[in-house]
Amino acid sequence: MRVLVVGSGGREHALVWKLKQSPRVRVVFCAPGNAGIARSARCVPVRPDDTQALCDLVKKEKIDFVLVGPEAPLASGLVNALKPLGAGVLGPTREAAQLESSKVFAKDFMARHKVPTAPYTVYQDPQIALAYLGSSETPYPIVVKADGLAAGKGVIVARDADEARDAVTRIMINREFGEAGDRIVIEECLQGVEASYIVFTDGETILPAVAARDHKAAFDNDSGPNTGGMGAYSTNDILGPELESDVLKRVIRPVISGMKEEGFPFQGILYAGLMLTSRGPQVLEFNVRMGDPEGQVILPRLRSDFAGLCEALCQGRLKEYNAEWDDGAAVCVVLASGGYPGPYLKGKVITGLKMAEEDRRVAIFHAGTRAEGDNFVTEGGRVLGVTATEKDLASAVMVAYEAVNKIHFEGMHHRRDIGAKGLKASMEEPLV
Ligand code: AMP
Ligand code: GLY
Repeated sequence: MRVLVVGSGGREHALVWKLKQSPRVRVVFCAPGNAGIARSARCVPVRPDDTQALCDLVKKEKIDFVLVGPEAPLASGLVNALKPLGAGVLGPTREAAQLESSKVFAKDFMARHKVPTAPYTVYQDPQIALAYLGSSETPYPIVVKADGLAAGKGVIVARDADEARDAVTRIMINREFGEAGDRIVIEECLQGVEASYIVFTDGETILPAVAARDHKAAFDNDSGPNTGGMGAYSTNDILGPELESDVLKRVIRPVISGMKEEGFPFQGILYAGLMLTSRGPQVLEFNVRMGDPEGQVILPRLRSDFAGLCEALCQGRLKEYNAEWDDGAAVCVVLASGGYPGPYLKGKVITGLKMAEEDRRVAIFHAGTRAEGDNFVTEGGRVLGVTATEKDLASAVMVAYEAVNKIHFEGMHHRRDIGAKGLKASMEEPLV
């Protein structure tokens, strides 16, 4: 098989790495990929937003199926353009991608299909939103969300009226996220622990992946500003069988059947960002793609052939595919550039990668690196994802940090508590 992966981060490296393990995959292309991906895939200098060039590539290289990593090309209709070419495509159409690209669409859709989520109101007029936030009746904290894609920065959990009004001003008046600020959602702030529940679907059959937990805040104990994700872990305990069947019944199945009913059948990867509350699981958001860094802990736990899964999904035969998952745990620690998520320096030489990779339980996924002579140097805010897969969470945490300690670049920072929530839950009381 000839496969194309679209994107250039740690998630795409994990996708390429997993596809390469399939004996049926002859060549993996990646557009545009990165320096780490280039060691195992043919990277082509085509940007994910260059729909025409991607279509040309699919035709020229006789691609069997395309896997789209990031949300932006899905939201702008890459799948709509690729479908008529006859190659398989794993990802939703522009219409189905609205579950991620419009918070208003997602919230209204959930309301129509009775999917549990925080109570909310949509505002088009900033003055009305500001007046509501200034009222003495308004409960704080409260959550303000820009309607469109904002690279993960369009959601503000405001502690008081000042913070909430500042969020509305930035989104709707200063238009920091462009047209994503045409409308906002203001919703109740939910309390609990978060979980990422990701499923593969051909629009009919739902094939759940193992659950994962992201670590969005920059520093230990969930402090500091939000980032694209500083690490993740995956164990069977994150949801457990009862919660998982509840999420399937109350969230995933109504969404897949509701999208079909409304004329936007969903095919690809659906990611439900959940808050596990005392009232049960509630949806914080949907993503229409694999999570990053979640993909870096989910894919290593897949035992069966990933290319076969993708092929079955694209051909609408997911029902025939039998997925097997590892029962253990995976942990991914993200190594970031000094200063990230704020401004950071690039071009720092990375040492210790070979030594860290000698451990067979470890996989290192590149997110922002560049090759310079025989070296890799830093090129992004998130530089590497160091993933360890082991029989249990405590061992996976230990192996991951052993590998992290072998790697160095000037200014490198990372969290030291990835997986700690899971360890705490297994030793003490449940998290919720
Ligand atoms: P979203 O992109 O909607 O998932 O929001 C990003 C992050 O904001 C989530 O992962 C949560 O940490 C937080 N968040 C979003 N909505 C809520 C909510 N209603 N209550 C509490 N936290 C939220
Ligand atoms: N880890 C969060 C995301 O992929 O959006």
